[in-house]
Amino acid sequence: MSDPGECLRDRHRDLLRYRDDYPVLAHTTYLVNNSLGAMHRGSAERLAQYADLWATRGVLAWNDWIPEMARVADLVGGLIGAPPGTTVLRQNVADLMGAVASCLDFGGTRNRVVYSDLEWPGSHYLWTAHGRFGAEVVVVPSAGDGVHLDVQRLVDAIDERTLVVPISLVLFRSSTLVDVAPVITRAHQVGALVLLDAYQAAGAVPVDVVALDVDLCVGGSVKYLCGGPGAGWLYVAPRLAGTLQPASVGWFGHRAPFDFAFAEVDYAPGTARFAGGTPGVAAAYAASAGYQVIADIGVQRIRERSVSLTQPLLEAALERGWTVRSPVDPAHRGGHVTVDPGDAQQVYEELTARGYLVDHRPGAGLRIGPHFFNTADECAAVLEEIDRIGRGR
Ligand SMILES: Cc1ncc(COP(=O)(O)O)c(C=O)c1O
Repeated sequence: MSDPGECLRDRHRDLLRYRDDYPVLAHTTYLVNNSLGAMHRGSAERLAQYADLWATRGVLAWNDWIPEMARVADLVGGLIGAPPGTTVLRQNVADLMGAVASCLDFGGTRNRVVYSDLEWPGSHYLWTAHGRFGAEVVVVPSAGDGVHLDVQRLVDAIDERTLVVPISLVLFRSSTLVDVAPVITRAHQVGALVLLDAYQAAGAVPVDVVALDVDLCVGGSVKYLCGGPGAGWLYVAPRLAGTLQPASVGWFGHRAPFDFAFAEVDYAPGTARFAGGTPGVAAAYAASAGYQVIADIGVQRIRERSVSLTQPLLEAALERGWTVRSPVDPAHRGGHVTVDPGDAQQVYEELTARGYLVDHRPGAGLRIGPHFFNTADECAAVLEEIDRIGRGR
């Protein structure tokens, strides 16, 4: 547990009462919420509820499961500012981005997909694979340091030939919080769509898809939402949702799935048309416990707590002379910090063996991602452990 002295100093000390709900915190120093957010014990209870419904009600469980899927979609939608009914759940970002891409016609002169070379590689794989359908991918070089994105260069690359601009709000490697507003403005000026990837932001940095005026927003639940795998989510702006027709569609995306009409698809109104086939109910049940805590605390509060933990961590890394591959100014940084003390791969392996969980990305270093339930002592402890490893102890 934490140092009581720190608790007294800490204006977020009440958040520490949540610690007992995250079992992994009892036996590890868990600072890898940027990768796999700690599981809330409620996820196990929710999974038991799901299984119990299946076991006792059989096929009638769908009467509970279907409304629960909608409730959970709205719960996570609320965490990114999405109005009820505008968010749908499906397995992961790749699946959902594929569904979005399947709405687009790359056959005309407006066939460009424009994004930076710091985007999530899975996104790059998907868009380049759409070259076979006529997509022209334009990868805009970033600032060159692997940390910062040159927003102006990206803006300048967007023109009337641009169909869609996929952009991460927080970059996965460096944790850079991107100023997406000029990109959205420019894209809309020329009639292009913006697909925001808020995966690394959701649950750690406030996101308001309505205020940002993005067309689509995608993400998943594995990271700061502490929802686990299998619960990807997609928001589609209501002004747009009825006009998009995913070719990657399933019977749950039909207006009346239980009519089983063997005819051309009659799309469900709004975002529901992106639902695909039979939904991953278990994943939604598991994820809801993590979401609920984030909703109860509020992302703004979590953000304050996060900065209060990551800023001293980053400054201490700088004092030690380590390479820091995240923005130093917290206003331009998401929930984790990326630091390289040297021999990062080996340090990562040793930290893991000693129960200090962070992660490692080749060419970047160690990503350290505390969450609201972590303490300043834990952040200090991981740095000291890295020092010890460096001294061969
Ligand atoms: C920005 C971003 N997008 C997407 C993903 C994951 O995508 P998927 O849900 O397809 O696994 C990650 C995972 O690290 C990510 O950081």
